[in-house]
Amino acid sequence: GEQDLLDRFQARIDAGEKIEPNDEMPEAYRKTLIRQMSQHAHSEIVGVYPEANWVTRAPTLRRKLQAMAKIQDEFGHGLYIYSAAETLGVSREEMVGQLLSGKAKYSSVFNYPTLNWADLAVIGWLGDGAAIMNQIPLCRCSYGPYARAMVLVCKEESFHQRQGYEAMVALMNGSPEQKAMGQDAVNRWWWPIMMMFGPHDADSPNTETGVKWKIKNFTNDELRQKFIKATVPQAKLIGIEIPDPDLRFNEETGDWEHGEIDWDEFWSVVKGQGPCNHDRITARRKAHAEGAWVLEAAQAYAAKQAARNAA
Ligand code: 3HC
Repeated sequence: GEQDLLDRFQARIDAGEKIEPNDEMPEAYRKTLIRQMSQHAHSEIVGVYPEANWVTRAPTLRRKLQAMAKIQDEFGHGLYIYSAAETLGVSREEMVGQLLSGKAKYSSVFNYPTLNWADLAVIGWLGDGAAIMNQIPLCRCSYGPYARAMVLVCKEESFHQRQGYEAMVALMNGSPEQKAMGQDAVNRWWWPIMMMFGPHDADSPNTETGVKWKIKNFTNDELRQKFIKATVPQAKLIGIEIPDPDLRFNEETGDWEHGEIDWDEFWSVVKGQGPCNHDRITARRKAHAEGAWVLEAAQAYAAKQAARNAA
């Protein structure tokens, strides 16, 4: 019965086995993975919009090439994770439809505006830095296709983080105006990036099953803490002040304590009332409409190929 399946499944998870698409799995495991993976893929795609409009305004050709390479990578991450999610029996059309209708969630951080070039440096350094913290453990998650997709994604994310930090170093070694731009961008992005890791563990409904089924190898607060620990020295090294007056190292626990996160802001952004939610979905719908002919042509070609092969 149902309990036997759950017990057999949990024994495999506890033994550190990878679950593959054709294996038996509890419906709740399939559902929570489709939930997380589709939202992850949406985040990769929507995450490009804040950066895209700075490609034509990059300060040098080298920065432009880096931005284009990163954007191309992110779209690839999205396609990779949509494909991994499809192995669970959900179609690409269904997932994309949920994003276009405004029903699907994607990472709150992408609903903030990129006001100048320093924002791109900060998104790379801190945004991708946060994403790496969250995605490295996913390389060891229990669902095979997701874990394997994450291995490639993490290699490319480390390039994204490096190029962002390097651009920050250039700014912080620059003129007083450039230094001010760098600090201003961190002031605007620090808290939205704190929110990327999700609610506190006590307020995280998916953490219990995520941890039990080894989808989540570290909790939201544990990853947020790892991120702060890694970022504080990097900020100090280039003279960036983290905009949290309550940030302090606790000698006893060995952890950084930080100011309270504005969860009202978080939930209003998640629910679609962030500064750029409307712009992002509008841009995504426009891209989908303008790209429809490519999709139709590819499908027509595939149908012809299939007919030719069947003949
Ligand atoms: N933005 C939007 N929604 C969020 C969120 C955020 N930053 N953090 C949490 N939520 C949502 C959750 O999706 C959940 O809603 P749902 O049940 O309808 O899906 C609700 O808030 C409660 O949160 P939980 O902690 O219970 O949810 P999870 O256990 O799923 O944890 C998560 C949230 C840590 C984001 C987890 O889903 C995860 O690890 N996802 C995969 C990685 C990912 O999506 N990373 C962020 C963006 S990828 C990126 O940054 C690309 C890079 O190249 C820039």
